[in-house]
Amino acid sequence: MEFLSGNFLIETIVPKDELIVSRTDLKGIITYANETFAKISGYNSDELIGKSHNIVRHPDMPKFIFKNMWSDLHTKGRWSGIVKNLRKDEGFYWVYAEVSQVFRNDKLVEYKSIRSPISFQDKKNYQLLYDELRERNNEVKRIISYK
Ligand SMILES: Cc1cc2nc3c(=O)[nH]c(=O)nc-3n(C[C@H](O)[C@H](O)[C@H](O)COP(=O)(O)O)c2cc1C
Repeated sequence: MEFLSGNFLIETIVPKDELIVSRTDLKGIITYANETFAKISGYNSDELIGKSHNIVRHPDMPKFIFKNMWSDLHTKGRWSGIVKNLRKDEGFYWVYAEVSQVFRNDKLVEYKSIRSPISFQDKKNYQLLYDELRERNNEVKRIISYK
């Protein structure tokens, strides 16, 4: 990923009283995005719908976390964790995400995710943890360091 602007340093804060909601098909293609998701990610809802959910994947996220998410979704039907996401303008936002299955007439048809804000301390801890996980797996390095 190439950063052409300075926005990669700019965090968008998820308001305490709002939830970011999306649904995907079974392959992770976005089928629904609420207003808050659009606002916080910097996209319009119609730019999000039909795209893979990795449209908001941030390069700071270790690959392992999403492998784990998909494997838990398949085996346990749910996953929760802390995610740093990428905005359209290359800024970022942190969330606590709960991902789960959606059934219609007893048939698994979609996945949904509901996300809420996390504390500053959690952001610091998870940034360092994810930096370490990427380093351990020889993944992309972060350009700036908070250490
Ligand atoms: C309901 C649902 C919500 C998801 N939300 C996010 C998200 O907010 N950010 C993200 O990077 N990946 C999210 N994913 C995982 C992506 O589909 C994708 O696996 C991930 O971004 C890694 O990209 P890759 O699979 O192309 O490596 C979500 C998946 C599902 C099923």
